[in-house]
Amino acid sequence: MNVFTEISDIRIQRWAEPLTTWGLVPTMGYLHEGHLSLVRRARQENDRVGVSIFVNPTQFNNPNDLVAYPRDMERDLALLQEAGADLVWTPTPEMVYPPGYQTYVEVEKVPRPLEGAARPGHFRGVATIVAKLFNVFQPQRAYFGQKDAQQVVVIKRMVEDLNFNLEIIVNPTVREADGLAMSSRNARLSPAARQSATCLYQALLAAKSIFEQGQRSADSLRAAMRAVIESTRLARLDYVSVAHPDTLAELDMVEDKALLSLAVFVDEVRLIDNMLVDGKQ
Ligand code: PAJ
Repeated sequence: MNVFTEISDIRIQRWAEPLTTWGLVPTMGYLHEGHLSLVRRARQENDRVGVSIFVNPTQFNNPNDLVAYPRDMERDLALLQEAGADLVWTPTPEMVYPPGYQTYVEVEKVPRPLEGAARPGHFRGVATIVAKLFNVFQPQRAYFGQKDAQQVVVIKRMVEDLNFNLEIIVNPTVREADGLAMSSRNARLSPAARQSATCLYQALLAAKSIFEQGQRSADSLRAAMRAVIESTRLARLDYVSVAHPDTLAELDMVEDKALLSLAVFVDEVRLIDNMLVDGKQ
């Protein structure tokens, strides 16, 4: 496994064997099983696997969050080696955004609701860095987690709109044994908050269960999720949504598919989770 900070070194290795297929896994580091599941899948489906570790400043609307973002490069590199990565890019912020930098990718509509409403500018930063990563690695496939459902919708939109020549592969959310979606933020939960944090998954399961019994009213599904959060200690609902999986428009009635999603403050730590439901399955 080679680890480089210079873009030119990434390009040299990427094109050393032009006929190999490359899978790219973009990350911000502090890796857990969710990230590693993407690397392992990329390992199975491509000749070579590239990974980026970069805490991207332009996607943080709160500067304190950027400073507080956890980092552990040594551990990350050991985990990536074990998971089968070939090439890791660890750029500095100055390399990615040098003085005079002024180009951003702005997807217009799908970033507006949900996380975009709570975190202004976030998806502009995500789309910009992901476009740059696609240009640096020029992979045939790029791997993202369903955990960040809106991020996937935004990136798919950008890929189609800007004719990026690659396939976006989405991997299921990896969860702890009790259902809590893995996230670097989970480390910030106190023991009591960690217990309460399963409420997001429980809320999604409650809505999914009434959906499977035939409930198609989006308001009823939202109410089912809200009820679980409101009855959980230390939990405060930010938003709950039942939306079209591609447009992210809020639904009145679910035709066949819907993206159930929510954001919850558990004792000041903001957690998100989601689940796709499909009445045709
Ligand atoms: P980061 O939060 O490090 O996540 C990197 C990738 O891992 C994303 O595609 C994310 O959806 C996926 N992931 C995180 N937790 C997961 C889980 N529990 N199960 C499955 N996949 C999971 O997302 C970002 O970084 C950044 O926005 C990035 C795309 C790298 C751009 O900066």
